[in-house]
Amino acid sequence: MSFMSKIIPWVGCLSLVAILTLTDMSQSAIGDGKIALAESPAKSTAIAPTSPGSSVRPPSSQKWGEPAGMPTNILPRPSTSTNWGRVRLGTKGNVSIPNKDAGILVQSAGQSWRQFRMDDLITLGAWLILGTIIILALFYGNRGTIKISAGRSARKIKRFSTLERFTHWLTAVPFCVLALTGLNLIYGRDLILPILGPEAFSAVTSVGKSLHNFMGFAFILGIILMVILWVRHNLWDRYDRGWILNGGGMFDENIHPPAKKFNFGQKIIFWAVVLSGASLSYSGISLMFPFEFSPFAGTFSFLNNFGFNLPTNLEPIQEMQLTQAWHGILSVLMVALIIAHIYIGTLGMEGAIDAMWEGEVDENWAREHHSAWVAEIKGEPAPEPLTERIQGEPTAHE
Ligand code: HEM
Repeated sequence: MSFMSKIIPWVGCLSLVAILTLTDMSQSAIGDGKIALAESPAKSTAIAPTSPGSSVRPPSSQKWGEPAGMPTNILPRPSTSTNWGRVRLGTKGNVSIPNKDAGILVQSAGQSWRQFRMDDLITLGAWLILGTIIILALFYGNRGTIKISAGRSARKIKRFSTLERFTHWLTAVPFCVLALTGLNLIYGRDLILPILGPEAFSAVTSVGKSLHNFMGFAFILGIILMVILWVRHNLWDRYDRGWILNGGGMFDENIHPPAKKFNFGQKIIFWAVVLSGASLSYSGISLMFPFEFSPFAGTFSFLNNFGFNLPTNLEPIQEMQLTQAWHGILSVLMVALIIAHIYIGTLGMEGAIDAMWEGEVDENWAREHHSAWVAEIKGEPAPEPLTERIQGEPTAHE
C-alpha cells in the first residue's frame, strides 16, 4: 500500500486547489472579471454592458449539455443605481410571502457555480482520474506486480475477522456503486448519452440516482464500523518513520520495512477514507435534504480565524451550490484514491487480496509487509524499526 504515500502529497495539493477554487467561487468573480458575485452593487467593479440585446438568460440557441454560452457582459457600471443593476448583482429585496429567499430575483453566484459544475469539475475530475490511471500504469510497467520475495510458504495467518471483512465490503461495494452512478451524473451526458440515446440514458440515470441516494446510507454505516474496528491500528507508531524513509519498500523488492497491522501507506488510506467519506456523507445528505443544512457559513467563519477572508453571510442557495461543488470535488478525489487502492489490493501486490477475500494471508507475505504485527500475534520479539534509508539485501525466511 505504500504507493499511496507517493501520491497523497499530490492529491493533497489538488485538494488545496479545490479548496481555493471553492473559495474563489464563493467570494470572487469569474470569466474576465466582469461578474462580481458576492458584492453589493455599490462595491462592484463590474464593467458596463455594451452589446445590445444582452440578456441574463442563456441564449435560446444553447444546447443542453454544451458549454454555457452565458452572457458575461451584462453587468451595470459601478455607479449604476438602476433597479436592474441591483437585481442583476443579486441584491435581495423584500417579499411578503414566507419564502424570504424569493426576494432574490437573479442569484449571480449561480452563474459561477454553473460554470464550475459544467466545466471546471468535469476537467478537474478527468485529469485526476485519468492521471491516476496513467501513473499506476507507468508504475506497473516499471515495477510489475510486487511479488512475495521469499515465495509463498504455504503457512497461513489469520489477518481479518469475518466482521472486519464484512465491514470492508460494506464500505467498498456501495462506494463502487456511488462512484459509478455519481460519475454518470458528471460524465454520462457526454460519454453515455450518445451511446444509449436519450430514453435509455434517462432510465439508467434515474435508477442510478435512486441507487446513489440509498447506497449512501450503507456506505456511512461501513465507515462508522471501520472507525470502530480499525482506528486503534491506524495511529502513528514507531515503525512509521522507517517505513516512510524507505518508501514502504515499494521501489526495491529486497526492502521490507517492518510495520504493525497497518503500515503508514494504509493509515493514509484509512484516514482519507474516513475523513473524506464523512465529509462526502454529510454533503451528500445536505444535498438530499435541500436547504436543511448550512455547512459553509460556519466552516468559513472557522477558517477565517486562520487568516482567510471568506464570506460568512451566505444565502441558502449559495450554501447549496458550495455543498454541491464540495461533494463533486471530494468525490473525484476519492475515486482517484480508491482506484489506486484497488490497484494495490489486486494487480499491484501478490497475496494482498487473500486478506480481504479469505481472511488469511501467506505467512511470508505477512512477514514481508507486516513483520511487527506477525511478531505480536506469534509472541516473538518485536523487530527493530528502521531508522534510516537502507540498501536492500535479499530477505532471509526460515
Ligand atoms: C472494490 C475493490 C477493492 C479491493 C479489491 C480492496 C482490497 C483491499 C485489501 C486487499 C485490503 C487489505 C490489505 C491488507 O491486508 O493489508 C483492503 C483494505 C482496506 N480497504 Fe479496500 N479494497 C477495495 C475497495 C475499497 C473501497 C471502495 C474502500 C473505501 C471506500 C476501501 C477501504 C479500505 C480500507 C480503509 C482498508 C484498510 C487500509 C488499507 O489496507 O489500505 N477499499 N482493501
